[in-house]
Amino acid sequence: MGTMPRQLCYAARTGHTRGGSEMKAKLVAVASVLSILSASAVAIAAEPKDAVEYRQAVMASLGGHAGAISRIVKQQVDYDHIAQHAEAIAATAPLVEDIWPDNSKPGDYEKTDALAKIWDEPDAFQEKVDKLKVEAEDFLAVAKGGDQGEVIAAFKELGQSCGGCHDDYRAE
Ligand code: HEC
Repeated sequence: MGTMPRQLCYAARTGHTRGGSEMKAKLVAVASVLSILSASAVAIAAEPKDAVEYRQAVMASLGGHAGAISRIVKQQVDYDHIAQHAEAIAATAPLVEDIWPDNSKPGDYEKTDALAKIWDEPDAFQEKVDKLKVEAEDFLAVAKGGDQGEVIAAFKELGQSCGGCHDDYRAE
């Protein structure tokens, strides 16, 4: 990362002082940012704190959409947004597969509620992730075309896939 500001500075400076080559300098700056972004996508090994906070942010987004759906199905609010929230949950569920790096265990960062047995029993844990993905897809299908009763039933199933993992793998 150390090289980025210098390259940007250089590009900005050449663009400024040499007038005509300003466009070229801008292109150089853009290209260097792009190359750094694509390199960082593979190169970053997250710190435990960041890995945990990322995981919690992904979970919180699931929780936000589930909370919104809950208010809609209970008719506490009058929005016709269920399909959009269902899309968001279905798009997020596959990410849950990836958010348990080895350095994000309870011993690595104390502010995680994830239990160590996630890493001790990967197959059983994977079943919970798979269940979430299936229920999220089912809910999306029903949210797009089902009647009220079907939507409520599918939402309950989805909620059980969240709770089924939390009961076993998240600290109280
Ligand atoms: C495969 C297991 C698993 C599934 C499935 C799962 N969660 Fe979680 N969830 C966890 C774990 C473990 C934590 C604790 C993460 C941590 O603190 O590092 C968590 C944390 C959370 C949090 C708290 C985030 C924070 O800000 O600390 C919310 C909200 C949440 N989950 C909502 C959901 C919802 C809603 C679903 C279903 C749509 C869901 N989760 C499905 C395992 C799961």
